Amino acid sequence: MLLMTEIKTNPDMLMKKHCTEEVITKLSGVITPHGWTVEKAIQSGIDNPDSSIGVYAGDPESYTMLAPLFDPVIREYHNYDMSGHKSDFSLEGISTENLDPTGAYVLSTRIRVGRNFAKYAFPSAISSEDRAKMESEIVEALQKLPGALAGDYFPLDGMTEDVRQQMVADHFLFKQGDRFLESVGVNRDWPKNRGIFFSHDKKFLVWVSEEDSMRIISMQSGADIAEVFTRLATALATINAHLNFAFDDIRGYHTTCPTNLGTAMRASVHIKIPKLSASKNFKDVCATLGLSIRGVHGEHSESSDGIYDISNKRRLGITEKEIFQQLYDGVKKLIELEKSL
Ligand code: ADP
Ligand code: ARG
Repeated sequence: MLLMTEIKTNPDMLMKKHCTEEVITKLSGVITPHGWTVEKAIQSGIDNPDSSIGVYAGDPESYTMLAPLFDPVIREYHNYDMSGHKSDFSLEGISTENLDPTGAYVLSTRIRVGRNFAKYAFPSAISSEDRAKMESEIVEALQKLPGALAGDYFPLDGMTEDVRQQMVADHFLFKQGDRFLESVGVNRDWPKNRGIFFSHDKKFLVWVSEEDSMRIISMQSGADIAEVFTRLATALATINAHLNFAFDDIRGYHTTCPTNLGTAMRASVHIKIPKLSASKNFKDVCATLGLSIRGVHGEHSESSDGIYDISNKRRLGITEKEIFQQLYDGVKKLIELEKSL
């Protein structure tokens, strides 16, 4: 049996903290309908000792059948008491005016949610047959999107390298999964049955079979967070009518990584704050506002020219409306601080 004490990782990794010998014993022999086990769930953390979380789920049942592993990670990451997930896509009663109409600070705004299917395994565990069936079902549903959301699907398999690289550079398209996702099986059969859907104006996008089965994205230049949010909410209303996603009342929408559970929403801006970002307390300021910092080419990337990707940290135990408000208030504060320096 796996001996947790012999596994060398950074001590702050949530897997290291919560996957005790007792948890391993309790979950020994537990196998979910799509073959996920405690050993598979912690493999990425073992292979990547610098992980901050280190665990992934393989299917919706992982969260209940392997709950002694996942629940403590979920509680700590989201600061959540497991009391029930609530959704609210309204923007009633809150400020929504553009915070940076001249575009001096906010270059672009992007809001995405992750979604997986109740009947299929997640990208970490899905079979190649199911991945192909799922792609067809997703594309069929996306073809029903009305008006400005209507668009076309571009499969990765067969896409020219030039086109692919340009779409990645333009912040539209995902890359092959990093070493954290590689460890957990997300890159199997790459690039088959992966792709991207674009609305004609390129403001609404869907990634198919990246870390989650779907990443549904609204994005545009500038700081009109409300317009980006409303476009996403409208698209989700149509998509929800055609696809049945993995969900429960405690954990909300199920995602491959427990950090994305709940709303599965990451609302971000690319913001140019060279003075503030060079100051010693930048990380603390963002942490106090409940915001995470990423580089300008996404997670685990570096930044340049004082431009950062700033987004909500929590996705569970918070509604979509509260995430909007947190990003809105945070961006307002960051602009004020930059101006004051
Ligand atoms: P996620 O987990 O939300 O999918 P990643 O960190 O993997 O995000 O980033 C995916 C892509 O989206 C990257 O190219 C990143 O630069 C881009 N991106 C994220 N936020 C914004 C934003 N506000 N404006 C433009 N591009 C963005
Ligand atoms: N598994 C990686 C880690 O533990 C990434 C976790 C969060 N990011 C993500 N894309 N799910 O550091």
